[in-house]
Amino acid sequence: MEFSQFQNMAVERFTNMLANDDVLPSADAARLLEAMKYSLLNGGKRVRPLLVYASAQACQANLNHADYAALAIEMVHAYSLVHDDLPAMDDDDLRRGQPTCHIAFDEACAILAGDALQSEAFSLLSAPIDGLQPAQQLSMVNTLAVASGLYGMAGGQSLDLEAVNQNVDLNYLENMHNHKTGALIKASVLLGAQCQASLDGQTKHALSQYADAIGLAFQVQDDILDVISDTQTLGKTQGADAALNKPTYVSLLGLDGAKQKAAQLHQAAMDALEPLGENAQALRQIADYIIKRVN
Ligand code: IPE
Ligand code: IPE
Ligand code: MG
Ligand code: MG
Ligand code: MG
Repeated sequence: MEFSQFQNMAVERFTNMLANDDVLPSADAARLLEAMKYSLLNGGKRVRPLLVYASAQACQANLNHADYAALAIEMVHAYSLVHDDLPAMDDDDLRRGQPTCHIAFDEACAILAGDALQSEAFSLLSAPIDGLQPAQQLSMVNTLAVASGLYGMAGGQSLDLEAVNQNVDLNYLENMHNHKTGALIKASVLLGAQCQASLDGQTKHALSQYADAIGLAFQVQDDILDVISDTQTLGKTQGADAALNKPTYVSLLGLDGAKQKAAQLHQAAMDALEPLGENAQALRQIADYIIKRVN
């Protein structure tokens, strides 16, 4: 299957999930709901849902079982972006080509929208899902919880903020990137795999190695694009990292060094998938996309 075919299929599934009446139905707190939908529906590359579907496909799982995980991880991701853009964090006013949530609404509303998107993600994943065993769902909830919190994204965001104006070394940077971005990317791959109840150890190991490599590569490329792209293409303010004096792969290794790092990680991801054969084709194509993407 061509990558564009896979992408169309996955995005169509994801869009149908977003349109599902059970997902974010009307609420008394109408303005909060509006802010949540604003942040979730306003585009984005949908890389994490794509990974959930591609990983489920690699494990020969039923893709119907991956729909809720795809939406749940994108909700956590949307929440992480809403909070990342707040004045107390990166103080950005542009996201996906639109005013950030706290600009379009207000700060309190953006904080609550992030909070509630996170809760909704866990609500989706923990309510009974046709065809999935409770034990499978429980391990999915656990995967998403660990990847979102102190030992994952939120911990990484804290390491990121502590590093502003500091001279950190490559070990610190890699650990920070693995937490703040790698954790949710890895969780996407694991969630797809958890749709398959009987997964062998070799496949699990291969997917875990693949996910570690592309998770870091994703943030390395984000650091590169912050330097070489433009605001229009990115849909977010170009040069934001340098303006805030954030350590990045480019600031530590230079542009060529950062590009080399991304290429090495891409190769590691490909090597990891070696035992998986044809079923992992979409995962390979996503790895290509992650380091070639322009936004
Ligand atoms: C941006 O994520 C924040 C990072 C973790 C680097 P994406 O680049 O996936 O953002 P969207 O969802 O496509 O807008
Ligand atoms: C964001 O990293 C990571 C998370 C939102 C968890 P960045 O701060 O580099 O993301 P962008 O560049 O604002 O999208
Ligand atoms: Mg940030
Ligand atoms: Mg940011
Ligand atoms: Mg960035």
